[in-house]
Amino acid sequence: MIILGINAYHADVSAVLIRDGVLVAAVEEERFRRIKHVAGFPHEAIRACLRMAGISGREVRHVAVSRRPRAHLLRKALYTLRRRPDARLLKDRAANYRRVGAVETTLAEALGLQPGDPRPQVHYVEHHPAHLASAFFVSPFDRAAVCAIDGFGDFVSTSWGLGQDGRIDVRHRTFFPHSLGLVYLAITQYLGFLHFGDEFKVMGLAPYGRPDRVDEMRRLVRLRPGGRFELDLTYFQHWRGDSPMTWDEGAPELGRVYAPALERLLGPARRPEEPLTPEHEAVAASLQVVFEEVAFHVLEAVAKATGERRLCLAGGCAMNSVANGRIRAATPFDEVFVQPAAADNGTALGAAFFVEHQVLGRPRSFVMEHACWGPAFDDEAIASAIEARQADIRAGQCDVRRFETRRELNEWTAARIAEGLVIGWFQGRMEWGARALGNRSILADPRRADMRDIINSKIKFREKFRPFAPSVLEEALDDYFVGAAPDPFMQQVYPIRPERRAEIPAVTHVDGTGRLQTVSRRTNPEYWELIRAFAGLTGVPVLLNTSFNENEPIVHAPGEALDCFLRTRMDVLVLGLHVIVKPSAAPAAQQRREVNAVG
Ligand SMILES: [Fe+2]
Repeated sequence: MIILGINAYHADVSAVLIRDGVLVAAVEEERFRRIKHVAGFPHEAIRACLRMAGISGREVRHVAVSRRPRAHLLRKALYTLRRRPDARLLKDRAANYRRVGAVETTLAEALGLQPGDPRPQVHYVEHHPAHLASAFFVSPFDRAAVCAIDGFGDFVSTSWGLGQDGRIDVRHRTFFPHSLGLVYLAITQYLGFLHFGDEFKVMGLAPYGRPDRVDEMRRLVRLRPGGRFELDLTYFQHWRGDSPMTWDEGAPELGRVYAPALERLLGPARRPEEPLTPEHEAVAASLQVVFEEVAFHVLEAVAKATGERRLCLAGGCAMNSVANGRIRAATPFDEVFVQPAAADNGTALGAAFFVEHQVLGRPRSFVMEHACWGPAFDDEAIASAIEARQADIRAGQCDVRRFETRRELNEWTAARIAEGLVIGWFQGRMEWGARALGNRSILADPRRADMRDIINSKIKFREKFRPFAPSVLEEALDDYFVGAAPDPFMQQVYPIRPERRAEIPAVTHVDGTGRLQTVSRRTNPEYWELIRAFAGLTGVPVLLNTSFNENEPIVHAPGEALDCFLRTRMDVLVLGLHVIVKPSAAPAAQQRREVNAVG
């Protein structure tokens, strides 16, 4: 029984394939199209899922689409009559609904179906139940509270309920125009970060500021009994239809969602080219405080209503790893599960599992223990990608070699990391979700205080305030973090032990925290072996891990990894058992050894 799940005509479009209730493949379209958060239809992602499953499109019996334009129609109609939104917004929405409605033709094309072929049954799963299903049905829990908090999807911004075996009973929904995701988006835009998905920059900025604008920030959103909340619409304009959203093929675009009243409340908005000041940092810090107040107010009510101590969380707001790390201390929940594609990419996963369990009534048999559900490339594919770039590799005077065993490769790589080199690390199947987790990663030595600046100046060119994350051996978690739970998906931020902060400064954020990834020998043996080799040399079972990209989606194929390596100042590229070393690597290592000796 093959089910294909897709997220289409929204941001972060993606495809997922499950066979007999077990996940086989999951991948975001952006990795192929090379446009971050790409919207439209996931043509390439669907083809990649079929390839990974080794099947043809004719074998797909059910397709689950994570949109149901007909959901809450009466409510939408009443809203439209009451608010009289702009005609342009209505036209945009209508066009989007038509596209979702015509999905079957586009789908047949993506599946490679011929005119006489049997068509799969198409199920439209509402956006929020898809989020909830993405969190619960792949979690290790038989029974748990389930909650989704996001911007909007199918007119809903927050929903929660009780998951038990193969069923989720939704008990509450918060409807448009009230949305915690929109509060975060409004302030993100106010702070001059205008690209889709820039919210995580504000989260990185927040620890630099003093939260002294909390009183003003609380005016944007009011708490109501029973875990409800309401926006003060004076400060927003998304509800008027003045903020067009584009989900056509290409990068998603969002209009401004805050109203002029927000500038009267907080002062003039920052333009993207303006420097960040302590006032901006204070706004970011205050936003994080109020975001957590609202999120934990919702979660308190969820815990009370369900009586559960285990929580599965999804929706764009579940990508707020700072808040996630505080849930266990701030709410009655003891265990939290957030799968790596908690944002709209994950609705493809949720829709597929929703159909498997809640529509077809089949029992659960799968737990997501790692994120490696994307394409892999064998030795031959890697060798031919290297061959295709031979001229550039020679022109750059790079040294190419291939190790015979993983053990030798790991020991060699760990030694280069310990020397201070910046390593592109490309192994196995690409990660599903927003984070690189040791298969498409850039790795470096977390002990070097200057490493954040080195990576930023060589490769990433990103905002200086944004932290880099630590990958830590699961066994060493408590030696380095306070009160942390293991998280293979890098979805929770915890305090680093005060006595350890000076030991791993490159992954310690300004407030002494780290967004940790625990690496388990059982579920990620290759990456675990590398970190252990590094620990053997240095005594530190931690690596700095950032995504393998340069202001683009994470690299997918060996050719993209090579291009990124050749155009940036990365020192070493490891592709499977192959390594490519730049001539700059030896003097750089020497220089950094000397700096370290002096420092
Ligand atoms: Fe969503």
